Amino acid sequence: MRTDGTEMKKLNIGMIGYGFMGRTHSNAFSQVNHFFDVPYQPVLKVVCARNADRANAFAGKWGYQAVEADWRKVVESPEIDLIDIASPNDTHAEIAVAAAKAGKMVMCEKPLGRNAAEGEAMTKAVEAAGVPNMVWYNYRRVPAVMLAKQLIDEGRLGRIFHYRAKFLQDWTISTELPQGGEGLWRLDVAVAGSGVTGDLLAHCIDTAMWLNGGISEVTGATETFIKQRQHSLTGKVEPVGIDDASMFLARFDNGSLATFEATRYARGHKALYTLEINGEKASIMWDLHDLHRLQYFDHRDEGRLRGWKNVHITDPDHPYMKHWWVPGLQIGYEHTFIHQAADFLSAVGEGKCAAPTFRDALRTDYVTDAVLASAANRSWVKVQS
Ligand SMILES: NC(=O)c1ccc[n+]([C@@H]2O[C@H](COP(=O)([O-])OP(=O)(O)OC[C@H]3O[C@@H](n4cnc5c(N)ncnc54)[C@H](O)[C@@H]3O)[C@@H](O)[C@H]2O)c1
Repeated sequence: MRTDGTEMKKLNIGMIGYGFMGRTHSNAFSQVNHFFDVPYQPVLKVVCARNADRANAFAGKWGYQAVEADWRKVVESPEIDLIDIASPNDTHAEIAVAAAKAGKMVMCEKPLGRNAAEGEAMTKAVEAAGVPNMVWYNYRRVPAVMLAKQLIDEGRLGRIFHYRAKFLQDWTISTELPQGGEGLWRLDVAVAGSGVTGDLLAHCIDTAMWLNGGISEVTGATETFIKQRQHSLTGKVEPVGIDDASMFLARFDNGSLATFEATRYARGHKALYTLEINGEKASIMWDLHDLHRLQYFDHRDEGRLRGWKNVHITDPDHPYMKHWWVPGLQIGYEHTFIHQAADFLSAVGEGKCAAPTFRDALRTDYVTDAVLASAANRSWVKVQS
């Protein structure tokens, strides 16, 4: 029951994958009705994964009504309304296309495809079927990042000159770390599609284009520091095909210049996603380790008091915050997924798609493809649009 007394319709979820993202999404669907008035009540109907014992344990913990080993059966089930793809990148295209053809709503983890060709097929499929679709680029739903979007859209920064983003980790430095298989599929290029470009930079690119518009051209450099690793599935030492580090320069359609960097070799950094935007009148900075704060500098402030403001994003007039606690009490990472579920369900109730849709996410696939092509050719590459 909603606060206005209207009944919520049930929406049966088929979750593919019970790993890291299977947990964040299951939590989002479990929590969304507690905090947001949305027209649907998600029902955790089926979780799909290949290890039956672990899938059963996951289903018990999260309250899924059934477990299935084959995603095709979930996609074909008339009981399921929405397929949520929280499995590795090599599964996204096949599952999303089949789900769209079966007339299901589709939510998919990022990156959309392992490359833009897969992303195009997925986008075509959901658009041909006319089904609601969304990609879980969750950083858009951090209240501080949403506030940054509002400030930019209000014109407070003026003309934008610079965009700067980094996503730094350090978990693959050991030469002993194998590639491939459970938990390590990100190091296997056949499964992941690319390394940090499609994994970490994809987040930075999605946020950047949402905040600052389209990217027209890029020039990048990538490096694979550890050239071979044992493969967990074959037991053999095999060449490593992913990029361990990736950096690129970009030009946006609005004339601003950007630098992007991602690596899994920045010792000491676990998940440091930072972004900074410099405009003619004001600048903003945000970082994931302090995600409930937005740094804001406004050159129009009185000279004697001009300086960086450190805004604590916990007031009810900050994006999403009126749904949570009281001023001064902050929220965290998992809430971004709850916000995304809420926005998706509200949009579906209005017969719309919430962003980022598959088509929005395809634009990120075009940029990551261009970055990898430019790194290979050592040139500037125009981004497909
Ligand atoms: N939005 C984000 O911030 C974010 C963060 C992490 C991962 N991701 C994305 O989420 C996806 C999953 O990543 P993860 O970290 O949860 O991975 P994970 O390794 O923790 O979990 C993957 C799950 O998929 C299951 N799986 C693999 N192949 C399958 C198949 N054929 N059929 C059914 N289940 C299958 C595995 O059993 C496992 O439960 C990836 O696309 C990744 O890029 C997004």
